[in-house]
Amino acid sequence: MEKLVINGGRKLFGKIDISGAKNAAVAILPAAVMASQGVSIIDNIPDIEDVQCIERIIESLNCKLIRGNNTVTIDSTTINNVFANTDDVRRMRASYYLIGALLGRFKEAHVDLPGGCAIGVRPIDQHIKGFEALGATVNIEHGVVTAKAERLVGANIFFDVVSVGATINVMLAATLAEGTTTLENVAKEPHVVDVANFMNSMGANIKGAGTDVIRITGVKELKGCNYSVIPDQIEAGTYMIATAACGGEVVVGNIIPKHMESISAKLIEMGVEVIENEDSLLIRSDRNLKGANIKTLPYPGFPTDVQQPMTTLLSVSRGRSIVNESVWESRFKFVDELKKMGASVKVEGRTAIIDGVSKLTGAVLKATDLRAGAAMIIAGLMAEGTTEVTCIDHVDRGYPHIEEKFKMLGADIRRIKTEDC
Ligand code: UD1
Repeated sequence: MEKLVINGGRKLFGKIDISGAKNAAVAILPAAVMASQGVSIIDNIPDIEDVQCIERIIESLNCKLIRGNNTVTIDSTTINNVFANTDDVRRMRASYYLIGALLGRFKEAHVDLPGGCAIGVRPIDQHIKGFEALGATVNIEHGVVTAKAERLVGANIFFDVVSVGATINVMLAATLAEGTTTLENVAKEPHVVDVANFMNSMGANIKGAGTDVIRITGVKELKGCNYSVIPDQIEAGTYMIATAACGGEVVVGNIIPKHMESISAKLIEMGVEVIENEDSLLIRSDRNLKGANIKTLPYPGFPTDVQQPMTTLLSVSRGRSIVNESVWESRFKFVDELKKMGASVKVEGRTAIIDGVSKLTGAVLKATDLRAGAAMIIAGLMAEGTTEVTCIDHVDRGYPHIEEKFKMLGADIRRIKTEDC
C-alpha cells in the first residue's frame, strides 16, 4: 500500500502535458479486439492501472499485445476465447465493453459483471436493451453476462437515459451487424467520438458521433489500424482546478481546449484567468475566487468526473456555492474528508451547499474513489500544513504519475509505503 504526503500552501508554476484519455483508452482497447485482420498500433495510451487491467483482460482472450512507450500493439487475429471471467474483469467498469466487442465479432460473449468506483447504482439495462434490439439474447446468471445471437440485425434504439457506456457498447456490436442501426439520445462525450473515429479507422461506417443521433451501417469485418487517443479532458480539468486552488500560473498542454469549455467557463466566472491557445490553456490564479453554482450534466455540460475537485475548490471560494450532482447519486461521500480540513459543506441528497472558508488545514484523508482521490490531493496541496492521502490505488487507476506531475509544478508531494488502507 502507498500514500501521498503533501506539505500544502505552495503555488504552482510551469507546464504539464496531459496524457491520453482514460475513458477513451479503456474503450478503444476492447474495441480493437474486433479486428479479424491486421494489427492495431494505438498511441497516446495513458500509463494507468485501468489500462493495465484492460490489457491483461485482452491477453486472457489470447490476443497478442506488445506494450511500448505510451503505445500498444494489438494482434486480435489469434483470439479463440469469448469468456472474460477474471478478477480484473470484476475490478473495473470498462470491462463491459468486451460484451459489445465480442458479441459483435463472434455473436457470443460471456463477461463477468463489471466493478468500478462506488459512486452510485450503476445498472447496465440500457446496454442490454440495445443488444436485445440487435437480436441478441442476454442473460445474467451467477454474476456473468451472457449475450448470444444467431445474427445481429440493425435496429432503431432510443436510449432511456444518456449513457456513455451503453452508447459505446451498443455502437461496437452494431458495427458488425447486418444493415443500419440508429442510436438516439446518445452520449456526446469526446471519448464517444474518439471510439467512433477509431472504429471508422478499422473500417466501420459510423456517422453522427458527437451529436444526439448515431447512424451505423454494418460492415462485414474490421481491420487493425494506427490510431492516437485524444487527450484526457478530466485529467486536464483536475490540473486546471488545482492551479486555481493553489494559486500560480500553469500551462496545461497537449489538450483540446474545446473539450474544456464547461470547466474553463466556470473557472472564469469564479475569477480565474484562462487563456486559450491552440493546444493548451494558461491558467492564472491569485486564489481570491468567488463561489459558483454547478450542475453536473452529460457533455457538453459540466462533467461529473470533475465535480469532486471543483467542490473542493468551492470550499475555499467566497460566499455560498451550490453543487447539484445529476449523474451519480453517491458522489458526495468525500465531503466528510473535506470537513476534517475545516470545510463547511452540507449535503442534502444530490445537492451540496458550500459556505466558503478562508483556508483548509492539513489532515489524514482517505481517497474513497478515483476522482475523490484527486480532490483530496488538491485539498492537501492548497491546505495549511501536512496532509496524508491514503488508498491512492484508486488514484493510480486513472491519473498517470500524479505526484511526479505536481512535483514538476513545484508542489511538495511524495509517495511513501504504508500499512493503512
Ligand atoms: C462513464 C465514465 C465515468 C463517468 C460517466 C458519466 C468510463 C469508463 N466511465 O461511466 O467516469 O462518470 O461515464 O460521464 O467511461 N445508466 C442507467 N442504465 C444504464 C447505464 C447507465 O440507468 O444501462 C445511468 C447511470 O446510473 C448514471 C447515468 O446513466 O446515472 C450515466 O451513466 P453512464 O454514462 O453509463 O456511465 P458509465 O459509462 O458507467
